Amino acid sequence: MSTHPMPPSPASRSVRLTGWGRYAPAQVLTNADLERMVDTSDEWIVSRTGIRERRVAAAHETTASMGAVAGLRAIATAGLVPDEIDVIILATLTPDYWMPSTAALVKEAIGNTRATAFDVMAACSGFVYAYATASAYIAAGMARHVLVIGAELLTRFLDYSDRSTCILFGDGAGAVVLSASDEAATPVGIEMTTEPQGAYMIWLPAGGSKSPPSAETIARGEHKIRMEGRETYRFATRTLASTALAAVGRAGLHAGDIDLFIPHQANIRIIEAVAKGLDLPMERMYVNLDRYGNTSAASVPIALAEAVNEGRVKPGDHIVLVAFGAGFTSGAVAMEWTADPARGPIGDAAVRPEDVRVRLPVDWDSVDPIPPALAEVLGRPVVPGVELPLDDVVPGEPAHAHSSTR
Ligand code: ACO
Repeated sequence: MSTHPMPPSPASRSVRLTGWGRYAPAQVLTNADLERMVDTSDEWIVSRTGIRERRVAAAHETTASMGAVAGLRAIATAGLVPDEIDVIILATLTPDYWMPSTAALVKEAIGNTRATAFDVMAACSGFVYAYATASAYIAAGMARHVLVIGAELLTRFLDYSDRSTCILFGDGAGAVVLSASDEAATPVGIEMTTEPQGAYMIWLPAGGSKSPPSAETIARGEHKIRMEGRETYRFATRTLASTALAAVGRAGLHAGDIDLFIPHQANIRIIEAVAKGLDLPMERMYVNLDRYGNTSAASVPIALAEAVNEGRVKPGDHIVLVAFGAGFTSGAVAMEWTADPARGPIGDAAVRPEDVRVRLPVDWDSVDPIPPALAEVLGRPVVPGVELPLDDVVPGEPAHAHSSTR
């Protein structure tokens, strides 16, 4: 629980997005790398998904460490210091541990002493759900500044013998700061849906209380993500446009008023279907999945930060963040952009990933976290303690130094 007094609570408080940041691990896994692991081809992956490469966290990185870097950058972009954050909400389906929450680890890593911190799990829609929660905290007068993080380390939960899933996902983190404002409210609309009939279409069968971890569950490979791709695809194309439109309507806007959609980066064909459904050109859809693959709850905030830093968003623009995922869930936020885009690079430059540390438990050595098939193709020895440089990435300039195939 929070130990700090709650900030004053004016009745009608408007919510503004004041900070944004992202972090992507340096190591690149290309389609050519995957060709060496499963029966697939660059041509199949690019034509069916649009993905060309994805990022893989190094052995010393975790969901918390990536989330902390993205979070600190968002705080710096907002012109704040970590202790001004009242609440930290972290969306992930790949937490560092079952408990404590990854948000609690991030709180310590960023040097915040005041915030209430907790995780949200709504799979790939998690960031939008966390964003909605943060908005509600501010609107209710319970917080002045909320840090919302989407962070995922999916490459440790993939079956690298299953070509239908292992090609899709990658690692990374993105974050925003939402702040209370005394200025006039700008248009905003939020919509979320949950359809549990899709519960077993994307799932991770074992490790929970229904099927606790055991030698047998491990032998069956039940600790890896499973997915019915075609059903998920159908759900996504059916739902994304309608969820986005509902949020746009709640903001008092029309689809044609939206300057940029920032959709969950799962599959280019899904994004194209959304554009078609909304009768909008692809130029209104932001796409970076070719470089990152699907980073689940991290995908929308990474895309948002890159879109803003690339000059695709300016004050007065109307944007929509929209996601779908396991559950099945979907969520969208329609809003007017008010922040100065030039703040983004300032926030990036303020935080060096190598300066951010997540405290480890005393007297405990975890086993090597990298799946052996991945370690082999990336050409690294499977021994604990081998560290790779924690370089960051400039948008549009992916670092390829650690790809095994270049
Ligand atoms: N390489 C080569 N062939 C492949 C591969 C691969 N990597 N993967 C599947 N295939 C084969 C299949 O075996 C199948 O062969 P068959 O016809 O002989 O049986 C053929 O390609 C077609 O398979 P489909 O599954 O029909 O391919 P589809 O065009 O649907 O593409 C994909 C598959 C990319 C997974 C697509 O269905 C998709 O993107 N679905 C949505 C997935 C998604 O977005 N998931 C994230 C959800 S977010 C979250 O919460 C985690």
